[in-house]
Amino acid sequence: MRVLGLETSCDETAVAVYEGGRGLLGHRVYTQTDLHEVWGGVVPELASRDHVRRLLPMIRATLADAGIGAGEVEGIAYTAGPGLIGALLVGAAVGRSLAYAWGVPALGVHHLEGHLLAPRLEPEPPPFPYLALLVSGGHTMLVDVEGVGRYRVLGESLDDAAGEAFDKTAKLLGLPYPGGAKLARLAAGGRPGVYDFPRPMLDRPGFDFSFSGLKTAALLALKAAGPAAHADLARGFEEAIVETLAVKAGRALAATGREVLVVAGGVGANERLRARLAEVAARAGARTAYPRAEFCTDNAAMIALAGEARLAAGERAPLAVIARARWPLTELGPPGG
Ligand code: KG4
Ligand code: ZN
Repeated sequence: MRVLGLETSCDETAVAVYEGGRGLLGHRVYTQTDLHEVWGGVVPELASRDHVRRLLPMIRATLADAGIGAGEVEGIAYTAGPGLIGALLVGAAVGRSLAYAWGVPALGVHHLEGHLLAPRLEPEPPPFPYLALLVSGGHTMLVDVEGVGRYRVLGESLDDAAGEAFDKTAKLLGLPYPGGAKLARLAAGGRPGVYDFPRPMLDRPGFDFSFSGLKTAALLALKAAGPAAHADLARGFEEAIVETLAVKAGRALAATGREVLVVAGGVGANERLRARLAEVAARAGARTAYPRAEFCTDNAAMIALAGEARLAAGERAPLAVIARARWPLTELGPPGG
């Protein structure tokens, strides 16, 4: 099926066309980072309004990229949750309405299902089953992926997401939003071992994470030490997060026996994390796999792909425009079910 995908769950406006059996025909991502930077974080209402401004022109442009007319779209998939409710409603309203106008089926897609299936956009995707570590600004999760719609959440963050923790600590260090990558660059010039921050939850069984305490520890250390300590502090903070993620991912690989660890989400760009994940995977007799960077961060290609699998199996959204700020991944089942 030839599916138009729309993603507006947070601060990226994205559109893609994906065709089952053929692959991706076109995709565009517009990131609102500049709009939110002055506020030090995403402002939900500004995000919604910008999606309204950009979505229709981006749909036109992406259809042109794909070389197809509106009449050749066979289904529309839009992110229906989880995310910022106002932002989600823009994509859901536009997607549902266009599908009605064009006389094609529509479907609301789970944003995290998109991330979990993103490796399937690559020419040689890892085969099912695989373990997925999702580390973004909004989510930190370890999920056992047995197939499309067959997900077992092994663990997740009980408070801040890993990217959120990076961004909040970066802000304390005076770095502009989003500060994760900037903090990592600062950390590269810092000395290891000067700050030994807690590795949250490593002493406990299970695969859940907690990162909010780490931010407080960083704040206290910063107050005591002053600006001269910034690089060492960034290094210690990065090591604590990376170590926590890597150790839990390693334990999850051992517990499940999976041979591939898929890493998705913006924090997956962190080089220290990549290196440590490669080590723990090798120790468990597994390997790491990363979707290319543009499919790791928020995009509509993954939404179109996930939507195509379900639309082709006969799933349909009702005529109502439905979006959910919260939507547990465990509510999903195999396509067509
Ligand atoms: O998946 P993503 O693009 O989108 C959202 O969650 O919206 O992830 C963005 C997150 C931000 O928190 C950003 O600071 C973080 O990924 N990030 C990094 C690095 N690059 C991006 N965190 C640590 N190290 C990096 N190199
Ligand atoms: Zn995302």
